[in-house]
Amino acid sequence: MYYAKVVVVILLMCMLGYVQSKPHLTPKNNTDTIADSAMVVSAHPLASAVGVAILKKGGNAIDAAIAIQFALAVVYPEAGNIGGGGFMVYRAADGSSNTLDFRETAPLAATKNMYLDQLGNVIADRSTKGHWAAGIPGTVAGAVAAHQKYGKLPWADLVQPAINLAQQGFVVSPTLAQTLNAEQTDFEQLNTRPCPLAKKDLWHPLDTLKQVQLAATLVAIRDNQQNGFYAGWVADSLIAEMQRGGGLITHTDLANYAPVWRNPIVGNYKKLRFISMPPPSSGGIALAQLCQVLEKYPLAKWGFHSPKTIHHIVEAERRIYADRATHLGDPAFWQVPVGTLLNTAYLQKRMKDFDAQHATPSAKIVAGNIAQSHAIGHEETTHLSVVDKWGNAVAVTTTLNGAYGAKVVVGGAGFLLNNQMDDFSAKPGVPNLYGLVGNEANAIAPNKRMLSSMTPTIVEQNGKLRMVLGTPGGSTIITSVLQVLLNVEEFGMTMQEAVDAPRFHHQWLPDLVFIEKDALDTPTIKQLQQMGHTIKERPPIGRVDAILVRKDGKLAGGADKRGEDTALGY
Ligand code: GLY
Repeated sequence: MYYAKVVVVILLMCMLGYVQSKPHLTPKNNTDTIADSAMVVSAHPLASAVGVAILKKGGNAIDAAIAIQFALAVVYPEAGNIGGGGFMVYRAADGSSNTLDFRETAPLAATKNMYLDQLGNVIADRSTKGHWAAGIPGTVAGAVAAHQKYGKLPWADLVQPAINLAQQGFVVSPTLAQTLNAEQTDFEQLNTRPCPLAKKDLWHPLDTLKQVQLAATLVAIRDNQQNGFYAGWVADSLIAEMQRGGGLITHTDLANYAPVWRNPIVGNYKKLRFISMPPPSSGGIALAQLCQVLEKYPLAKWGFHSPKTIHHIVEAERRIYADRATHLGDPAFWQVPVGTLLNTAYLQKRMKDFDAQHATPSAKIVAGNIAQSHAIGHEETTHLSVVDKWGNAVAVTTTLNGAYGAKVVVGGAGFLLNNQMDDFSAKPGVPNLYGLVGNEANAIAPNKRMLSSMTPTIVEQNGKLRMVLGTPGGSTIITSVLQVLLNVEEFGMTMQEAVDAPRFHHQWLPDLVFIEKDALDTPTIKQLQQMGHTIKERPPIGRVDAILVRKDGKLAGGADKRGEDTALGY
């Protein structure tokens, strides 16, 4: 019934001109969505429909990515956002590439120990809920910067579909009703004004969610671009919200915010070359390190999810995540030893104590010893992948951090604030929302960007586009991207199979191999346990949205079956 209604809404959008032909919803049966010219994959069917409509209107991949990002802020409020931030990796059809960092920054009033009590203990929930948890949003500035540099269609065309979705409303899915209702108490307790996402008698599937305040904010962004968000009445609303809720963000913080174009991290896996996100994300470096270590092993011969394959991947992950905790942070504040971390001799040394038969306890693993110059100065995120008809490719991962971020909607402006401050290390060695520990490299400082795991990635082979991928999932993002890459290249899966295949994850601390339900059979679990691994089942890992350029030149979309993710192409 819900899906029937979604199709009706999409057809309505066709009539309104957002979609020029009936879109093909991704089946959830491991069958790739195939297209000849262009493809988008995102977390929501309506957002994917907006992206395809922009491409058909003559927009390029950047245009579509921007329009999808704004649409997700409306139809996928748990992670789609204008009050958060993220990263974009771009590869033009001519092979040139670029990355855009629109990560949040810490407010100027932030201090290193702001989440500690008088005894030096981390105050529960302070960095995850409410106004104190929010960093300066980067999404709108990022979208404007990307459009100015690479966009083709007029800016207003990219924001308008989201305005329409917010004004006219859309059908609430069973999943959205459930996740909104799960936050009901926080929405009521943390907001200083009635929260438009809370409903007294709870949300039900087939309800319509209209967001008039959010629509007004999007109109301001449509008409005034960056100034529509970082200045004027929207900025005033955000600052008034901060003052009512005791938050730290000021007008100066908003005026100072700037996204940063950065050189991509370039990595290799056998014949593949990939571009991914540099710091302040750890994603690109960690993925490149893992690939460099793992390409030496005959994983295909050992087999998908065999004990030997899992053991080797886990042992590499254990060591690479220890490096992450010590050596990675915002490069404007911390000299990240990128060259050493990616150096072959260094990585060989990191794996020197590796035992092919036994797990190395994480207590015995410390970060690699690199001479360091000191400081210079419930998981949710979402990913979208786009390839346009010219062959330009975009991978965007964007986030409020936890589901619904700080759970605070800016009064009068209708958008959620992020709780990205929790991605800093509030205290050395104390785990954050994702169980990740950090240190000085990722300590809080005014105007600093918090370390991320987001790994939007574009893969090429023989100089040609091969794959576009990324995922939400906090600390598990890096290992999910790795597994999807391996599923295609080593285990011969199609794009959809690779995305849907069960996943596992290790991140040094806690010293556990996390697995999805039914990811491993009992003999495999027993064998891993005999090797010294502790296995722990957990809820689904990640929601990868990816596109593969097949050998026949067609585009294959993989939309993760773990969510309502949708691949659409033409
Ligand atoms: N907020 C999740 C991440 O950036 O890794």
